[in-house]
Amino acid sequence: MKEIVVSGIRPTGNLHLGNYFGALRNFVKMQEDYDCRFFVADLHALTTQPDPKTLHINAKNILAEYIAAGLDPEKATIFVQSDVPEISEMYLLLNMHVGIGELMRTTAFKDKARKALGIKTDSVSESDDEAIEHQIIGTESNKRVNAGLLTYPTLMAVDILIQKASKVPVGKDQEQHLELTRRFARRFNSFYNTDLLVEPQNFNFGAAAVKVPGLDGSGKMGKSEGNCIYLIDDEKVMRKKVMRAVTDEGPKVPDSPMSEPIANLFTLLELTSAPDVVEHFRRAYADCSIRYGDLKKQLADDIAAVTAPIRQRIMDIQANDEFLSRTVSRGAERARAAAADTLAQVKQVMGIKKF
Ligand code: TRP
Repeated sequence: MKEIVVSGIRPTGNLHLGNYFGALRNFVKMQEDYDCRFFVADLHALTTQPDPKTLHINAKNILAEYIAAGLDPEKATIFVQSDVPEISEMYLLLNMHVGIGELMRTTAFKDKARKALGIKTDSVSESDDEAIEHQIIGTESNKRVNAGLLTYPTLMAVDILIQKASKVPVGKDQEQHLELTRRFARRFNSFYNTDLLVEPQNFNFGAAAVKVPGLDGSGKMGKSEGNCIYLIDDEKVMRKKVMRAVTDEGPKVPDSPMSEPIANLFTLLELTSAPDVVEHFRRAYADCSIRYGDLKKQLADDIAAVTAPIRQRIMDIQANDEFLSRTVSRGAERARAAAADTLAQVKQVMGIKKF
């Protein structure tokens, strides 16, 4: 039996090169050797109250993008969270063993609660925590932190535990949620004196996760930074973004250290170009003959070689509603079979029985 891998993707925007090199490419490799179950976390997206008109479109986009980038419905189970009602049912049950205190102390919750209440995120202090707590229980404000946001970790734990996954590939920002998942599983098992729930581990597949930098000179590529190249960008748009990437005045003396913007361009080049191409530009940098325009043109060509075929497949899939609906209904069927098993066991140990 293959080990079970579960990961969820919130449908909140298009996929960019950071997602592709940071996560997706690994998912594509994992599906060869593991029993992978990847899903669109549309219920999680509801915690930040998206426009109903865009929720479904975003879910569809993300499915098309994942499949276009190499997730194979023949190898992995690909499904939509809301197609598996067992998840919602077990979420209610697991919540009975989750403390509101531990949920309120979760970093992601505090960040999102601050956002919902309009408290500036740059001043992360004790008084903020107090302000949040005050406003959460206060009745004056028409701003509110919804209970779904608070119980986000319960829902995520159920996504994982209901599939009995032992491995969960997630980034650093989700490690705390994974830690809570383990804690809830342990607590449930010990309360009912069972070994029903499996404690999952973070799956650091292959080498250390690659950090994909953005085009704005500093930091990593991220939706909210506005420094992204999206898989769906058409080639002209992508080229424009690359040609406008931040650089510096260029090396003045041989073997100068690289500034961050230039180092970032080299990181992107390493991800997309052949080793001898990278070497050529490194040498040109070292002997001060480099022209950033040439480097960018090369980078744009090599990014296009990665993204152009993916983009074409995204559009083909988008145009084929029948394929997508067949794919997710097959995925849901498989995901539900496993989920129904776990749910039945959970109900049994909790004492919920048919009359
Ligand atoms: N919380 C995850 C994120 O924001 C998405 C997610 C939901 C998830 N359920 C999951 C990830 C289960 C892994 C496993 O990225």
